[in-house]
Amino acid sequence: MSADAKKLEAEILAAIDAADDAAALEAVRVGALGKKGSVSALLKTLGGMSPEERQINGPLFNVLRDTIAAAIGAKKTTLEAAALTARLAEETLDMTLPVHADAQFEGRIHPVSQVMEEVAAIFADMGFDVAEGPDIESQFYNFTALNIPEAHPARQMHDTFYMQAEEDGEPLVLRTHTSPVQVRTMMEGQAEKSGPPFRFIAPGRTYRCDSDQTHTPMFHQVEGLVVDETTHMGHLKHTLEAFLAAFFEVENIAIRFRPSYFPFTEPSMEIDMQCHRDGDKLVVGAGDEWMEIGGSGMVNPHVLRHAGIDADKYQGFAFGMGIDRLAMLKYGAPDLRAFFEADLRWLKHYGFVPIDVPGLAGGLSNKSLTTLTSAK
Ligand code: DAH
Repeated sequence: MSADAKKLEAEILAAIDAADDAAALEAVRVGALGKKGSVSALLKTLGGMSPEERQINGPLFNVLRDTIAAAIGAKKTTLEAAALTARLAEETLDMTLPVHADAQFEGRIHPVSQVMEEVAAIFADMGFDVAEGPDIESQFYNFTALNIPEAHPARQMHDTFYMQAEEDGEPLVLRTHTSPVQVRTMMEGQAEKSGPPFRFIAPGRTYRCDSDQTHTPMFHQVEGLVVDETTHMGHLKHTLEAFLAAFFEVENIAIRFRPSYFPFTEPSMEIDMQCHRDGDKLVVGAGDEWMEIGGSGMVNPHVLRHAGIDADKYQGFAFGMGIDRLAMLKYGAPDLRAFFEADLRWLKHYGFVPIDVPGLAGGLSNKSLTTLTSAK
């Protein structure tokens, strides 16, 4: 290589070395390899050379150009890595910093979600699992397996939303209650050989074609099921009393069973809890009034058999309660429809601060009860 070319190479390599950011490096690149760059100019001199000179210098100049290009590429990688490291160091977040005071007041947990969490926490403490099933359900699970055969009047009782029928099948339904999860979960347990015994709750959305101050087309229930060899009504009564006392955060709460009828239980009972009114306040756990909060009973052997369980060996209890109703009673929200209107002012008033996760250890809810006072 000519002395000039060598000198040029040394100069450019020094400039690359000295470039300490992307812009400086780009300037070096344009100055060397750009259209009017020094290396490009050198390459252009080949045109004026004799064939012999060109044969010698051509490859040398090309090597020079490639060397410079490679050096620029390498430097670019180094600079980018350094820039990333610097940026990461600069943008470090201190995760141990406390939440900004205002942040926790921005969002709110809906009372229904809060109550679901509370219910799950209380039953988990009693050894219940949480089971789930689909909102769009087959008539088999919603009715037939629960001992509600076709043409049974109870199918009409439920004001069912039917889906469009598939060509070859019967229409699916929006589940009218959480009871189908009983059968699904027992069948799964049988298949996986994880039960019986069974002990679970199933909270979730339910649907009926109904709308007034105390009914919305979509609402929430929590189902409970216990199946074992010796499960009896005493267990049911204690479970419900223990649940209600924990949920309403009172020492004791008495319940009363009223005879009723559900196709999936035998006997069937309505659950009433003890309460009274003090002005417009509802006081639970004392007094001589009773408020209905759900249905219950001993699982009908037909339901066990539909789930493939030996009904001569196993028996169980079941219950179903309205979650929205529990929320209204505990937090004093008078109109059910407001629960589903997505009015932020309502949510700000009745909602819960997200970082206050309900648990038995810290008290279930940190919210002061507006219309509920505990009877101690
Ligand atoms: N599924 C019933 C309803 O929605 C409520 C119910 C009653 C559930 C009795 C039960 C039960 O598990 O045992 O009206």
